[in-house]
Amino acid sequence: MTDKNQSVNDIIATGIIAAESKHTSGLYAKQPIVIVRGAGALLFDIDGNEYLDCSSGHGVANLGHAHPQVAAAIAEQATRLVTLFETFYNDQRAALMEKITSLVPELPRVFFCNSGTEAVEASLKFARLSTGRSGIVAAMRAFHGRTFGSLSATYNKKYREGFEPLVPGFSHVPYNNITALEKAVTADTAAVILEVVQGEGGVYPASPEYLQAARRICDQRGALLIIDEIQTGFGRTGKMFAIQHSGVVPDLLCCAKSLAGGLPMGAVLIGDAVKNLVPGAHGSTFGGNPLACAAGVAALTVIEQENLPAQAAEKGQYLMERLSEINAPVIREVRGLGLMVGIELKQKVAPYLRALQEKRIIALPAGMTVIRLLPPLVITYPQLDFLVETLAEVLSNELKEPVLNEVKDE
Ligand SMILES: Cc1ncc(COP(=O)(O)O)c(C=O)c1O
Repeated sequence: MTDKNQSVNDIIATGIIAAESKHTSGLYAKQPIVIVRGAGALLFDIDGNEYLDCSSGHGVANLGHAHPQVAAAIAEQATRLVTLFETFYNDQRAALMEKITSLVPELPRVFFCNSGTEAVEASLKFARLSTGRSGIVAAMRAFHGRTFGSLSATYNKKYREGFEPLVPGFSHVPYNNITALEKAVTADTAAVILEVVQGEGGVYPASPEYLQAARRICDQRGALLIIDEIQTGFGRTGKMFAIQHSGVVPDLLCCAKSLAGGLPMGAVLIGDAVKNLVPGAHGSTFGGNPLACAAGVAALTVIEQENLPAQAAEKGQYLMERLSEINAPVIREVRGLGLMVGIELKQKVAPYLRALQEKRIIALPAGMTVIRLLPPLVITYPQLDFLVETLAEVLSNELKEPVLNEVKDE
């Protein structure tokens, strides 16, 4: 019976893989696994095999997969009203506006969109519109998205190559370097845009002093400060927003990923220094739709009820402590904030990620030499122990690919 089911599943899986392989854009490096279900920090393939998800779908599933409160809110709202342009008022949108702005009361307005890159795009446009200036200063190693504005703020040439010319007016300075920022921000700078922890760039946290200096420099030069919390937001680093570790309040705060518990949604929180946001200056057809807003209200309620930022802080500290006890020569450094953790290796990470996947753990790269761990914040301590023990085993094996020189800013 089991064998028969197994082979039926195999046939179905082969069909699914063949269909996607035939029709895919080709933009994604695919893994030969068909995932059909999730629960908490686990994903299940078509045969019912479980995987520990330490990627959270690239940082989306902070609440875990298929959270019942979010699922119920989506199901209920889907039977009432899915779409409504922001020209009309709506109960779910009003509720989400009140909830999300209450997280950072100094930023009382919000623009809703559908993804991270759209949030960054909007914030860049708002900064130019507000200041009448064109310059944008971003950081080396930064990742802000793949549409033209956010791509222009993104640093790594692997994302930019083939798409030039990008938007003019962008420059990049070394991250965590106050002197370089002082020099780069001028009377033509509309905004400085920074991540609090560079995620794609290799899991590098900014120092609180750097973020405080960025705030001061922007104030002195009349530029706006944009903070990109698309990966770090909603509890990931141990606070609701990572910028709150430093006490800095930005003018524009971009978020997305786990905002609506897994449904696509982005948002920009907007401070009083941001001017000229008048009807028609920007907009989004799907932005602020009642379905995503209902999911957002449910997700933010769960984050508060389950105290997920505190959970991320405690579990992150436990994970970092246990990881630093692993005695494997291949490890160069373990760093991170909350449950956003990078393990930098002296070698390429690809074979180690493959080995982890064989042992049913899904993790991410951040560049060529960093294993990035972004587990759901609801991951349990026994699951963290399984992760650490499996990492210890995998990292103590020699999985040779050419040894690299120290990786610099890209
Ligand atoms: C810091 C940061 N900014 C922007 C983005 C782009 O978000 P999206 O893929 O939703 O467009 C990402 C995505 O990984 C991100 O990590």
